[in-house]
Amino acid sequence: MSESTFEPAPLDRSASFYVAGHRGLVGSAIWRKLQAEGFENLVGRTSSELDLKDREAVFRFFETEKPRYVVLAAAKVGGILANNTYPVDFLSENLRIQVNVMDAALQHGVERLLFLGSSCIYPKLAPQPLKEEYLLTGHLEPTNDAYAIAKISGILQVQAVRRQYGLPWISAMPTNLYGPGDNFSPNGSHVLPALIRRYEEARLAGAESVTNWGTGSPQREFLHVDDMAEACLHLLEHYDGPEQVNVGVGKDVSIKDLAHLVADAAGYTGSIEWDTTKPDGTPRKLMDVSKLNALGWKAGIELEDGIRSTVAWFREHQDDFRH
Ligand SMILES: NC(=O)c1ccc[n+]([C@@H]2O[C@H](COP(=O)([O-])OP(=O)(O)OC[C@H]3O[C@@H](n4cnc5c(N)ncnc54)[C@H](OP(=O)(O)O)[C@@H]3O)[C@@H](O)[C@H]2O)c1
Repeated sequence: MSESTFEPAPLDRSASFYVAGHRGLVGSAIWRKLQAEGFENLVGRTSSELDLKDREAVFRFFETEKPRYVVLAAAKVGGILANNTYPVDFLSENLRIQVNVMDAALQHGVERLLFLGSSCIYPKLAPQPLKEEYLLTGHLEPTNDAYAIAKISGILQVQAVRRQYGLPWISAMPTNLYGPGDNFSPNGSHVLPALIRRYEEARLAGAESVTNWGTGSPQREFLHVDDMAEACLHLLEHYDGPEQVNVGVGKDVSIKDLAHLVADAAGYTGSIEWDTTKPDGTPRKLMDVSKLNALGWKAGIELEDGIRSTVAWFREHQDDFRH
C-alpha cells in the first residue's frame, strides 16, 4: 500500500506521451490538443499496427516506447443496437484492451494515466443530474450493461493501482461527445452525427420533410470533443483522486431543439416531423459536472457553434469519414 505523491503541475512537454486510440473521435482531439500545447513526443498506433487485445504485442510496445504518460481512449464503441446485439464483443474486447494497456503501463511505471469511460456506467434509474457518487448504487441499463461493466472494471483497475502502488492514475467519464472525426455512418452513429448526416442529405436532395423517431422530448447533453480534450489535459495536470470525474457541459437540450439547430446549421429549410409511434428512450440524461467545475474547468464551446463547425467538417470530409 502506498500514498500518491501527486502535486498539481504542468506535464513535461518533452516526455513520451502515448494516446491509445489516437485516430478515434476522442483520441484524435486529444492528439490535436497535445500538439497545440507543445507536446513534442506523442506516440500513437492504429489498431492494425498494434492490436491492443494482443497482450504480448502491447508489452513489447511499452518496452520499446517507454511512455511516461498515457491516455486510454481506445475502445470498442457503438450505439445501442451494436451494444445490444454484440454484448460479448463489447465486454471481452474492452476488458482485454484496458487490462493489457494498464498492466503494461504498470509494469513500466507510467507516471500519469487517464482512463476514459462513459455515462452509461451509472445506474439506469439514478437521479439526474448524474453525480459521481451514484456509481454502483443500482442496476445498469440492460442494453449496454456489458460495455458498462467493462468500463466500471477499468475505473476499479485505476483505483486498485492507486491503492496498491500509489500511482496518481485517474478516470474521466464524458457525456455524449461530437465534433470532427465523429462516426457519421447511418448504422453505427450517435444521435448528433446521425442528425447532421440526415439534414445535410435532405438539403442536398431538396427534401420537403424529414421525419425523426419519437416525440423529440428527451433531453440530452452534448460536449464538443475539443472541449473534452481540453478537460482531459486539465485533469491530468490538476486532479489526483480515486473517484472518476464526470466531463460534460452540465446543461441539456431536447432532441427537438437539437434537430432544429442541426437543420439550421445544415441549411435545410423543409419541415421537421416526428414519428411518435417510435420509442423515445430515457427521458433525460445529464451529468453533474460540479466536481470538474470545482477543479477549475468549464466547457467553452456553445452547442450552436460546435454544430456549425461540425457540419462544415462533415462537408469537407465526405470522402474520408467512416461510412
Ligand atoms: N463518442 C462519445 O460520444 C463518447 C462518449 C462518452 C465516452 N466516450 C469514450 O471515449 C473513448 C473513445 O471513444 P471514441 O468515441 O473516440 O471512439 P472511436 O471514435 O470509435 O475510437 C476508438 C479508437 O479505439 C481504437 N481501437 C479500438 N479497438 C482497438 C484495438 N483492438 N486495438 C487498438 N486500438 C483499438 C480505434 O483505433 P483504429 O482507428 O486505429 O482502428 C479507434 O481509433 C471510449 O472509451 C468511449 O467510451 C465516447
